[in-house]
Amino acid sequence: MVKIVSVINLKGGVAKTTTTVQLAECLASEFGKKVLVIDLDPQTNATISLIGEDKWEEIDRKGQTLFHLFNDKLKNTSIFNIDKALQKGVSNLSLKSLSLLASSIRFIDIQDRIADISKETEHMISPMEVLKSSIYSAITSFDYVLIDCPPNLGFITKNGIEISDYYLIPSIPDYLSTYGIPQIVKNIHDFAGKRSLKIRCLGLLVTKYASNSESHRRGMETLPERFRKIFRELQIPPSTLFQTRIPQANATAEAMDFEGFPSTFREKYGRTKSGNRYLYEYVIDLTKEFVKRAES
Ligand SMILES: Nc1ncnc2c1ncn2[C@@H]1O[C@H](COP(=O)(O)OP(=O)(O)OP(=O)(O)O)[C@@H](O)[C@H]1O
Ligand SMILES: [Mg+2]
Repeated sequence: MVKIVSVINLKGGVAKTTTTVQLAECLASEFGKKVLVIDLDPQTNATISLIGEDKWEEIDRKGQTLFHLFNDKLKNTSIFNIDKALQKGVSNLSLKSLSLLASSIRFIDIQDRIADISKETEHMISPMEVLKSSIYSAITSFDYVLIDCPPNLGFITKNGIEISDYYLIPSIPDYLSTYGIPQIVKNIHDFAGKRSLKIRCLGLLVTKYASNSESHRRGMETLPERFRKIFRELQIPPSTLFQTRIPQANATAEAMDFEGFPSTFREKYGRTKSGNRYLYEYVIDLTKEFVKRAES
C-alpha cells in the first residue's frame, strides 16, 4: 500500500525541500522503492533540484505543472494531464524509480484564489480536494509519495494533508525555530478532526544541526520533552524525534544543485564527513527510521 507523507513546517528555510529530495533519492536508490515527489511549493525548489530549469520550463510551457491542475479548476479548462505531467526517471542520479509532479512559480498568482474553486466548479470540487479528486488514483502504484509543502498551512498545503497518511516536521533545533511546532500539530489535528482524515505525525527531524552551536545544544536538551508535551496536551497518540540528526554541512546545500554530475547516491551526499561519518550515512540512517515508522 502506498504511504503518503507531507513534509511540513510553518517556518521557512528549515530543510523541508532538502529532506524531501534526500529521502526520495535514498528510498529510490538505496532501498529499491518506487517513489513520487509532489512539489506543492510555489517556490518550485524541489522541482528545480530534481529536473533542472530547462526541463521545468518545457513542462511549464506544455501546461503540465500542478499550477495548471489548480488553474484548470478555476478556469474550467482541462489542460493538465496526469499521464503527461508525471516526470519519470528524475534527479541528476537518473533514478528510474523516482518520479515528480512539478510545481510552478505561477502558483503564486493564483494561491489567494484557490478558495474560489468551490464556486467555480459549482461546488463539485472542494478547494482542499483538488489533488485527491484529480491524481489520487494515479499515485497508488508508488511505494512512497513525498509531498514538499510551502511554509504555511494554506489551501495548497491542505491539499497535501488531505491525501497524506503522515506528516513529517523538519526543524532546526534552536528555541526560536521550534517555537511554532505546537501550532502545526494542533492545526493539523483540528483540520484532520473536521474532515475525518487519518493523517498522523511521523516525527520531528532535527536538521542543520551544528554540534558546536550552544543554542542547538541547549535546544536539544528540552526538545524531546517539549515535543511529547504537545501530544499529551492534545490527548492524541505521541510522536517522537527521529534519532538521526542531519548535520549542518555546506556539501548538503551544494548537493541540491541539479547541475552537479554525481554518479551515485553515496557520491552525491558523501564527499565530506561530519564528525567521523560521511554525510550519506546520516541520510541512510534517516531513511531506515523513516521506513520503519511509516510501515508500523
Ligand atoms: N544539512 C544542511 N546543511 C547546510 N545547509 C542546508 C542543510 N539542509 C538544507 N540546507 C540549506 O538551507 C537552505 C534551506 O533549505 P531548504 O530549501 O531545504 O528549506 P525549506 O524548509 O524547504 O525552505 P522553504 O521554507 O523556503 O521552502 C537551502 O539553502 C539549503 O541548501
Ligand atoms: Mg522548500
